[in-house]
Amino acid sequence: MTSISSESYGHYPVMLTESINNLNIKENGFYIDGTVGLGGHSVKILEHIKKGFLIGFDRDSNSIKIAKKRLNVFDNFKLVHASYTNLEDACRKLDIKQVDGMLLDLGLSSFQLEDNQRGFSHRYNSSLDMRFDDKDDGLTAQEIIENSSVRELTNIFNEFGEERNSFRIARAIKESSEEINADRLVSIISRMTAYKYRIKTYSRIFQALRIKTNNELDHLESFLNDFMKFLKPKGRIVIISYHSMEDRMVKHKFKELKLNKELKVLSKKPFIPTDEEIFDNKRSRSAKMRVGEKIG
Ligand SMILES: C[S@@+](CC[C@H](N)C(=O)[O-])C[C@H]1O[C@@H](n2cnc3c(N)ncnc32)[C@H](O)[C@@H]1O
Repeated sequence: MTSISSESYGHYPVMLTESINNLNIKENGFYIDGTVGLGGHSVKILEHIKKGFLIGFDRDSNSIKIAKKRLNVFDNFKLVHASYTNLEDACRKLDIKQVDGMLLDLGLSSFQLEDNQRGFSHRYNSSLDMRFDDKDDGLTAQEIIENSSVRELTNIFNEFGEERNSFRIARAIKESSEEINADRLVSIISRMTAYKYRIKTYSRIFQALRIKTNNELDHLESFLNDFMKFLKPKGRIVIISYHSMEDRMVKHKFKELKLNKELKVLSKKPFIPTDEEIFDNKRSRSAKMRVGEKIG
C-alpha cells in the first residue's frame, strides 16, 4: 500500500521513528492518535496495523479533511473532529473499551503555522484568530486581548510564554488606540524589545496567546487524568510536547502513576530529536517525548 509522504505536505512528523518504536505496535492492535494533524504519525501507525484499528482526533476541521484524504488508502481508521479529551465518547460509539497505545503530538502543525489567515504566525499579517477549531464559539486571541486587563495579559504572557518583558508588552498593547492584528502586535513587541531578542519574543507572545485561546493546558490536564482508563494493561502512552509547562505536567503525572504502581515510565529522561532531525526540521528542536507502559 502506498501512502503520500509527509514532506509533500510541507510537514515533518516529529520524532517519527522513535514514537512509532515506542508505541510497540501490534499488528492487530487498537491505537489512538489524539492529535492527527495532517496524519504524519497516523500513516505510520496504520502501516503497522493491517488487522488493527486507529481512532484519530483533531480540533482543526481543515487538518481532519486533509488527513482523511491522505489516509484514504487504508480502511481501518476513524477520524473525529474533536479534542482528544473526548476519548470516552468516541470509544463508546465505536464499542472500544481499551486500546493498545495512544500518541499525543501536542501544539500546532506547520500547516497551521503557515496559514496566513489564522494569526498563528508573527510572519503574516492577519487578524489574530488562533482558534484550532474555527467552528468553536470560544474567544479569538484578538477578543482575549480586547477583554483582558493589563494584569491579565501580563499573566498570560508570563504563564504561557515565559516572557520576561510581559508587563511592558501587555501595557503597550492596552495603550494602543488601534485594533490589534498580527502586524500591530509585532510592531509593539519590536518597540519594547532589543533587536537581538525580537524573534524569540514574537514567538513567545504568539505562543502564549495561542495556548490561552485554545485552553491547551486544560485539555492536556483532563487527558492526563483520564487516559489510563482507556489503556489496556501493557498498553503504551507516548506524548511529545514543545512547551516546558506541558512537559512538566506529563512528567509529574507519569511520576504519580509510577508511585501508584500503575505505570512503568520508559523514558527516565525525555527523548529528544537527533541533531539530524533538528537540522532537517528546525521546529522539532524543542520537542520532548515521554513514554509509559500501563502495569497490569
Ligand atoms: C504538532 S500537530 C500534530 C502533527 C501530526 N502528528 C502529524 O504528523 O501530522 C498538533 C495537532 O494537534 C491538534 N490539537 C491541538 N490540541 C488538540 C486537542 N486538545 N485535541 C485534538 N487535537 C488537538 C492541532 O490542531 C494540530 O493539528
